[in-house]
Amino acid sequence: MQKILFATSEAHPLIKTGGLADVASSLPRALLKRGHDIKILLPAYASVLNKAKEAGVKKVTEISIPGQTISLLQTRLPGSRVTVILVDIPQFSERDGNPYCGPDGSDWGDNHWRFYVFARAAEAIALNEANLDWQPDIVHCNDWQTGLIPALLAQHTNKPASVFTIHNLAYRGLFSYQIFAELGLPSDYWHHDKLEFYGQMSFMKGGLAFADAITTVSQSYAQEIQTPEFGCGLDGVLRARAKDLTGVLNGIDMDEWNPGADKLITHNYNRRTVGQKVANKIALQEQLGLPVNESIPMMGFIGRLVEQKGIDLILNQMNQLLAQDCQLVILGSGFHSYEEALKNIAKQHPHKVSVTIGYNETFAHQIEASADIFLMPSIFEPCGLNQMYSLRYGTLPVVNAVGGLRDTVNERPFDDIGADGNGFVFHTATPQELHLAIKRALDCYKQPDLWKKMQKNAMSQDFSWEKSAEQYEEIYQKILSR
Ligand code: ADP
Ligand code: GLC
Repeated sequence: MQKILFATSEAHPLIKTGGLADVASSLPRALLKRGHDIKILLPAYASVLNKAKEAGVKKVTEISIPGQTISLLQTRLPGSRVTVILVDIPQFSERDGNPYCGPDGSDWGDNHWRFYVFARAAEAIALNEANLDWQPDIVHCNDWQTGLIPALLAQHTNKPASVFTIHNLAYRGLFSYQIFAELGLPSDYWHHDKLEFYGQMSFMKGGLAFADAITTVSQSYAQEIQTPEFGCGLDGVLRARAKDLTGVLNGIDMDEWNPGADKLITHNYNRRTVGQKVANKIALQEQLGLPVNESIPMMGFIGRLVEQKGIDLILNQMNQLLAQDCQLVILGSGFHSYEEALKNIAKQHPHKVSVTIGYNETFAHQIEASADIFLMPSIFEPCGLNQMYSLRYGTLPVVNAVGGLRDTVNERPFDDIGADGNGFVFHTATPQELHLAIKRALDCYKQPDLWKKMQKNAMSQDFSWEKSAEQYEEIYQKILSR
């Protein structure tokens, strides 16, 4: 049994902007189930305090650093026995909305300070200097928001071991030299082997340079980020640490994403009754005002509308797509230009395309249950959860062969689907290749027996956390025994 402090800037259902939140909630629960003493460390954003009310929030202690008094609060992750420690400073708790940026979409001007203070709180807990009477063996950090934690811990001797997980290397947490100086970080950290990154400071680099072990969320992404194409300028650092870098594929919450028991969808179904899935499609067609027809293939897309997700590829083959007999249902939010372009297409083709801008969990479940095909043509994808949710719901994914998409989706020839053919994969990120893959999906859909076989393959896959949690345990063991 290990004592683990799991530091994260998001955890579902308290706060979520993307897959990190899902992982930061389901991995700790899996580790708790396996007998570990795990506590999540999370910023006390206003919305988190609001949602945590039901489980009860109590102040446990207070710590001070120059310029800031930090309250530590304690609550529980709703629906679980996992303890959550909330780092409460007004810069977190007095702000509504997105954790990283304001209503106009630009980053909060004091993000460096907010996540520096968060790291200082983690440091105090890690060293058992926060009056919690609890010292972790492992501090498990996630993405740039927690990157300074291993860097701060490196200054001490009686420190726990640290793991840094990269969920998305593209967000490097970059700030100026002036901010580096203001934060009073050790001056020798201004070095390209430490926090300095081409004349700026990178919080992400703190994790990469100082953590005892580095992990990322799929095996393919672990390889890709060591190349200039996917390395975001950090591939050199990652190659230097290659022997400490492991890819561990994310699991999913098999209870929350279970078509057999999902309360958010109209009709439950499972592998054996997958034929009944179509009732969800009809319900969604009615709900969205699309022509009601059970045999029209419906494609779904859910996600952040950002470059990473391949929105340009979707847009650039839209005319060819619209020439096909199909329906397209999109849910997402992000860049204004993508939102506008998609809304315009829906306006021009109301009988084929439905676009919902916003964030809506219920609707996300309904799309997974209703669509036949799921589009996920990401340019890069560290792991990706939506393709796994899709597979579990028998909604066959069309994906670009990168990162976790490559590791979870397999395309096989129609006459030899085997036990693992479960989707449609293209290998060059162009609109043409995406369209050809969509065409293959639509052709396959016309062969009901083949389609059903692939749905069964998809729905039989095991995406539970068991195997991955075990891999994390092995990594914890390895660094503790060093
Ligand atoms: P990323 O973390 O890069 O955004 P993932 O596929 O790992 O991509 O995870 C995205 C998560 O966020 C999924 O749980 C997905 O259902 C959810 N999600 C993304 N956009 C929306 C939205 N507009 N409404 C509801 N859920 C969303
Ligand atoms: C990031 C990645 C996504 C991954 C998620 C959880 O947001 O973009 O691919 O699934 O983190 O690890």
